[in-house]
Amino acid sequence: MNLIIQLVSFGIIFYIASKLLRQNQKLELNEPPLVPYKYPIIGHTFDYFRDTENFLNKCTKEYGEIFSLYIFGKIETFVGGKLSPEVFKNDKDFNFDIAFKEKFPMERFMDRPDKYFAPLPRIIFTYLSQELQAYTERVQRTLTKAINELIGDGKVLQPPLKTFQLIIARPIAASLFGEELSEDKEVVHTIAYAASDFIPFLSIPPILDFIYPLLHKSLMVIVFKLFNNPFKVHREVIKRKISPVIEKRLNDMKRDKESYVPPIDILQKLIELIVDDNYKVDIDILTDYIVIAIFASSHSTSTFLTNALHEFGNHPEIRKELVEEQEQLYKAKIGPYYTSDQIGSLVKLDSFFKETLRLTTSIVLFEHKVLNSHFTFSSGHQVPKDRHVTTRLQEIHRDEESHGENPNEFNFLRHLGNPAPHVEKHYLPFSFGKHACPGRFFATSEIKTCLHLLFLKYNIKNVNDEITIPPVQGPFKRSSDVGIIFEKRKDVY
Ligand code: HEM
Repeated sequence: MNLIIQLVSFGIIFYIASKLLRQNQKLELNEPPLVPYKYPIIGHTFDYFRDTENFLNKCTKEYGEIFSLYIFGKIETFVGGKLSPEVFKNDKDFNFDIAFKEKFPMERFMDRPDKYFAPLPRIIFTYLSQELQAYTERVQRTLTKAINELIGDGKVLQPPLKTFQLIIARPIAASLFGEELSEDKEVVHTIAYAASDFIPFLSIPPILDFIYPLLHKSLMVIVFKLFNNPFKVHREVIKRKISPVIEKRLNDMKRDKESYVPPIDILQKLIELIVDDNYKVDIDILTDYIVIAIFASSHSTSTFLTNALHEFGNHPEIRKELVEEQEQLYKAKIGPYYTSDQIGSLVKLDSFFKETLRLTTSIVLFEHKVLNSHFTFSSGHQVPKDRHVTTRLQEIHRDEESHGENPNEFNFLRHLGNPAPHVEKHYLPFSFGKHACPGRFFATSEIKTCLHLLFLKYNIKNVNDEITIPPVQGPFKRSSDVGIIFEKRKDVY
């Protein structure tokens, strides 16, 4: 009995000592300042979500480039423009993927192992972004059709995002799995709304993390698997629609062997990635890849297209010059379609879109998780393993030294000669470093094409000439619901 008591006492002493020792080790780090808070457990959670912009500005003023906050039961560190490049560049020390998947465990939802979809960014970059010319015509064709069907001889779109989600879904369908399916209403609906239907599910605040770290994520995975939800419904549509396309392609590949002329799209590249010697593939794998590509591409593209149109409405003084550039290209058009170089030559439109991205992206983004025992920033501050480090994106995008004078003002020619998809350490709408968006060249070209077609066909302004800015939801921004008027131009283009 005595021995048991001795062992238990020894165990308790050992446990407390090791805890204290670990705490001491933590204390030894030169951590960034933790902003003081009033209420234990709740910490800064309410202040941060109530008015992220002003709260962070206040903290930055008081504590400078790097500081930590206590949010939803964990300490999170925030960095500005001086230190964020160190987070993006040191991918052996910081991981975006792991941090992202704590909030959005896509692989767990789909019962796939970690890093299952790792080949997708390379496929998108190599076969879509770097092969723009192969997609330019179908992007123009599908956009023109969608605009004619959904805006026609003119309309007021209120809220506009819903329609632009449907418009953008068409060229995305055509590029992911071919033009035929881009005509299918069910497919278009799924591509348009898959991500936004799922956002409410993801926006549930992680209150359970106050009790235990990552409890929210575990519950989310269980709820996701047990109950039907929009994600499963949209996935089923994609699987049902692409299955016959895949079967036909496999049959043709088997029949034609070396003489097979493969269609140009992302689905074909995915088939080639997993097809076996007997011309068999697992259709569920292909479906999951395509679903991930839809999530990555559709919502972001339609959101920033809508933001660009609102900015066009906000700034009547730029309309003439911007529209003139579009008319000049139209007059130089030879065949029925522009080349990708011609779309690329729209430098004012490019700069206008880049300015939209600079000013309408979220307040903070890009949470990274510290992988090793600790990381030491060049400022001397140290962050421990498992700490999440987040970038104060809006502050970086509005820095005068990096972006020129009056950085809070919309200057549509600010970026002439510096194309929108070009990632830089102080321009981060497409992220930076290893995880920079692989679809950014395609996305920019697609959005520019759509704006070009709209500017030629319609006089565009915001309802009541309202000046609109994207509403914030905590640290994130979404597209404004302010209506946009499309009035058919008399001079027909
Ligand atoms: C204006 C439109 C777009 C914006 C602003 C954008 C932005 C981003 C950003 C910031 C990331 C980094 C991770 C994240 O925060 O999610 C990302 C990743 C990604 N994007 Fe885009 N994106 C756009 C359009 C597209 C399109 C059209 C595609 C594909 C056709 C695409 C494919 C991807 C993929 C596959 C990733 C994951 C990259 C990785 O994990 O390494 N994106 N995008």
